[in-house]
Amino acid sequence: MSSDSTVRFLTGITTTGTPHLGNFVGAIRPAVAASKTPGIESYYFLADYHALIKCDEPARIQRSTLEIAATWLAAGLDPDTVYFYRQSDIPEIPELTWLLTCVTGKGVLNRAHAYKASVDKNAAAGNDPDADVTAGLFMYPVLMAADILMFRSHKIPVGRDQIQHIEMARDMAASFNHLYGEHLVPPEAVIDESVATLPGLDGRKMSKSYDNTIPLFVPREQMRKLIMGIVTDSRAPGEAKDTEGSALFQLYQAFATPAETASLRQAYADGIAWGDAKQQVFERIDREIAPMRDKYQAMVDNPAEVERILLAGADKARALARPFMAELRHAVGLRNLGSRAAGAADKAARVALPVFKQYREADGKFYFKLVDAGGTLLLQSPAFDSPREPGQLIARLKSLDEAAIAQITPWWQSEATPQSVLRQFADAA
Ligand code: TRP
Repeated sequence: MSSDSTVRFLTGITTTGTPHLGNFVGAIRPAVAASKTPGIESYYFLADYHALIKCDEPARIQRSTLEIAATWLAAGLDPDTVYFYRQSDIPEIPELTWLLTCVTGKGVLNRAHAYKASVDKNAAAGNDPDADVTAGLFMYPVLMAADILMFRSHKIPVGRDQIQHIEMARDMAASFNHLYGEHLVPPEAVIDESVATLPGLDGRKMSKSYDNTIPLFVPREQMRKLIMGIVTDSRAPGEAKDTEGSALFQLYQAFATPAETASLRQAYADGIAWGDAKQQVFERIDREIAPMRDKYQAMVDNPAEVERILLAGADKARALARPFMAELRHAVGLRNLGSRAAGAADKAARVALPVFKQYREADGKFYFKLVDAGGTLLLQSPAFDSPREPGQLIARLKSLDEAAIAQITPWWQSEATPQSVLRQFADAA
């Protein structure tokens, strides 16, 4: 399957705070499951630049980055089959942010929900509208669009509060493409209605802002205590209990099989004591969490290993980002002055320019090809084991002038091997 049919999913996780059961059920568990679906390519990254917008405690950012990375890995994310990286390790992202900033109306950003909420709050308090509003908050949607557009992602699983940001990313892609040619892929938000929102300790939605969360990886005994503290009504043992509106029951349901859920429903009807029901819910949750908790702890105790995994992920992601950024720089006119006659021919060249496409086949190997504006195949690479070499070759090809390219024998023919291609590039340089 080529990139033309691969669907790319991308998710960013802001690195403030510690993951809780609600994050696990609502985001982490479904995302890890989705990452194992054939035919889709997954990108998960730690949005640490975004974290700076709401947090000015360096130690907390560092700790949260470690905890969130360790959580996703412990939950079963396989960094070899997905792209798993830290936003701040990809310098092409802030670079793209600037290109997008220059095609985004300031008025559009004025209407972004997060910024507008701050302005409205200031207005209500009789303050200057922009009091305590950083330009970072204002620019938040542009940075997020760069995250998304950098990897040509198609589908962005998000909560409802983020839909506007995806719409803005679409608009930025359209503006850019309108000005500079079809380079950016407009993304789509994916809202999973089937995923449960988990109630917290007080019965309201589990959320850091309500301070009612159960952290995902607290020690077993502490998790038990927290679950014992979930609010219930005052019905005595022996009295039938209502499952409707029972936070405890909903929590159980998010972890149990349908048969187990039916059996607890029966126990409610039969008047199970709240203490016993809570113990049962705790045991069921712990059964799923305990094996992950050990992996999580091992990783938190070995931050150098997590760092290594993230840097390897950044390498893999940059192999895509670097050549794509080179393409975008060229598109807007940030160019090698010797590369091509500047000026009047530019508009025609923009339309006729062939494009590089990188993709992965069902054989698991990485390829690239060059197709002209009419869709005709100009070059076809041999198979590479990692995305890195094709990425570097494309960047290299783009930096060569026409005379140098003419020197290269037709390495794209089927007899070419990755080694022979690499050798020719070394000679041409
Ligand atoms: N804004 C997202 C949130 O707060 C996090 C995020 C940053 C993100 N960049 C992204 C999500 C790109 C999806 C795609 O949840």
